[in-house]
Amino acid sequence: MDSGDWDDRYRASDRLWSTTPNLFVADRLRHTRPGRGLDLAAGEGRNAVWLASIGWQMTAVDFSEVAIARGLEQTQDVQFVQSDVLEWESKVNFDLVLVAYLHLRPPDFEKVVRRAREWLEPDGELFLIGHDSSNLTDGWGGPQYPEVLWDVAAIVDWLDGMTIVESEVVRRPVDADDGRHFARDTLVRARLPG
Ligand SMILES: C[S@@+](CC[C@H](N)C(=O)[O-])C[C@H]1O[C@@H](n2cnc3c(N)ncnc32)[C@H](O)[C@@H]1O
Repeated sequence: MDSGDWDDRYRASDRLWSTTPNLFVADRLRHTRPGRGLDLAAGEGRNAVWLASIGWQMTAVDFSEVAIARGLEQTQDVQFVQSDVLEWESKVNFDLVLVAYLHLRPPDFEKVVRRAREWLEPDGELFLIGHDSSNLTDGWGGPQYPEVLWDVAAIVDWLDGMTIVESEVVRRPVDADDGRHFARDTLVRARLPG
């Protein structure tokens, strides 16, 4: 999907994603020492806005102008940038780089992860959460194209030289009209040596 497709998707509803942060982002990052953070493909900003509320100095990048406009409506505490994450360049480094539910065709996602890693400060954390490949058969919702789904082992492979803090498939509860379901997400957290 290009930025125009995403704009159309955002325009189709008042709010596409929740206003609350992702479950795992909130759980794992709630008690971290705030610093400078970057949210790549931030959407309407649910994670960046929450991180800013607990003290992080956040930059949020997304190529959808509708999503960016919605982010800007919520807060002035996050620097929202409308740009393609495959092309955007950072002038500074970050203590945290977050990528949540960005699903690109190969090799673009690997390229984003490798770029994200370049923007980390020493001891900085790369936090990746997205729909796992096993979600197609054993999970709920999410993209239905296997080539855009994430794989723990493949991602860990790209993070050579980093300390892997967490790398697993996690279950995320999703409440639907017909009851509770569980989506399967890839969660990888990795730290650059200090
Ligand atoms: C599923 S949403 C996730 C949004 C947000 N990370 C969250 O968890 O709420 C995927 C987002 O990726 C953005 N996106 C997709 N490809 C992108 C690209 N190449 N550059 C920047 N943003 C992109 C879309 O505009 C969309 O907002």
